[in-house]
Amino acid sequence: MKGTSTPVAHTPVMLDEIVSGLAVKPGGLYVDCTLGAGGHAEAVLEAASPGGRLLGIDADPRAIRIAERRLHRFEGGCALVNDNFGNLKAICLAHGFAKVHGVYFDLGLSSMQLDEPSRGFSFQRDEQLDMRLSERQALTAADVVNTYPVEELARVIWAYGEERKSRVIARRIAEARPVKTTGQLAKIVERALRLPRQRVHPATRVFQAIRICVNDELRNLERALQQALEILGKGGRIAVVSFHSLEDRIVKNWMRQEASSTVYNAEMPLASTERIPALRIITRSVVTPSEEEIERTPRSRRAKLRVAERL
Ligand SMILES: C[S@@+](CC[C@H](N)C(=O)[O-])C[C@H]1O[C@@H](n2cnc3c(N)ncnc32)[C@H](O)[C@@H]1O
Repeated sequence: MKGTSTPVAHTPVMLDEIVSGLAVKPGGLYVDCTLGAGGHAEAVLEAASPGGRLLGIDADPRAIRIAERRLHRFEGGCALVNDNFGNLKAICLAHGFAKVHGVYFDLGLSSMQLDEPSRGFSFQRDEQLDMRLSERQALTAADVVNTYPVEELARVIWAYGEERKSRVIARRIAEARPVKTTGQLAKIVERALRLPRQRVHPATRVFQAIRICVNDELRNLERALQQALEILGKGGRIAVVSFHSLEDRIVKNWMRQEASSTVYNAEMPLASTERIPALRIITRSVVTPSEEEIERTPRSRRAKLRVAERL
């Protein structure tokens, strides 16, 4: 492991809303798909006492080590697994969590990951372009930036960063290859966009896009949501906190589709079949943090919570 500096504490977002959204009850079984520093896990385990159990998953081995220390007192009540939530069902079955009362996701990165030197997630420092959640993953940000054909790079920046000037940026990146560091990349984007000074750094969308691509974030989320349906018992709840519109759109559409009794045929839009819905949506409209929480934890301002119940 590179750069073992003291990790910056991560404040869990919408903690009360998640615990009440999941309707956590004593003795229940819960799965935290994005364990991080274990803040949500700790609150869920407390609310599920006595007798509750939790399976915590994180793709980042460093997160598991931090959460282990925090959740030490629940030993026996929790199992922590270093894996990707894209493998949710297999992980749950392997650990005896076949039918659970709640599954939740607090997507994105923790403050520890953003602040840890040499992870390459942030353009606030100049470091190697990495952005992997786990060193076991082969693809790095440097690979995407330096080896993807220009059109493919532009597609990534457009699709995952929703950046309108994706083509210009991709071209400038290709011209500057090899791009070795986050600082270099941030400068290239800044010059390509030539925007007046703003509150949000012009490279924010490009960094988000490359991170999503490196970690295949959207596909893993889609996989995990589908698998969550199979491990949730009747009346079990799923809660998802997302931090950008691409994730929230996936969650919203998936919940709506699974809560609908009509399935449309993609090839014949007018043809549809009826079925028994798998979910009931609990949060009719998206839930956002209170003003006090945003004041206390500015990072929470983009959080959006959606909750549904297995039928
Ligand atoms: C916002 S943090 C979670 C913080 C946590 N709820 C807490 O209270 O400390 C998100 C975590 O999810 C993990 N993560 C992101 N995508 C993942 C994936 N596909 N599989 C497993 N873990 C993932 C990240 O490594 C990170 O630790």
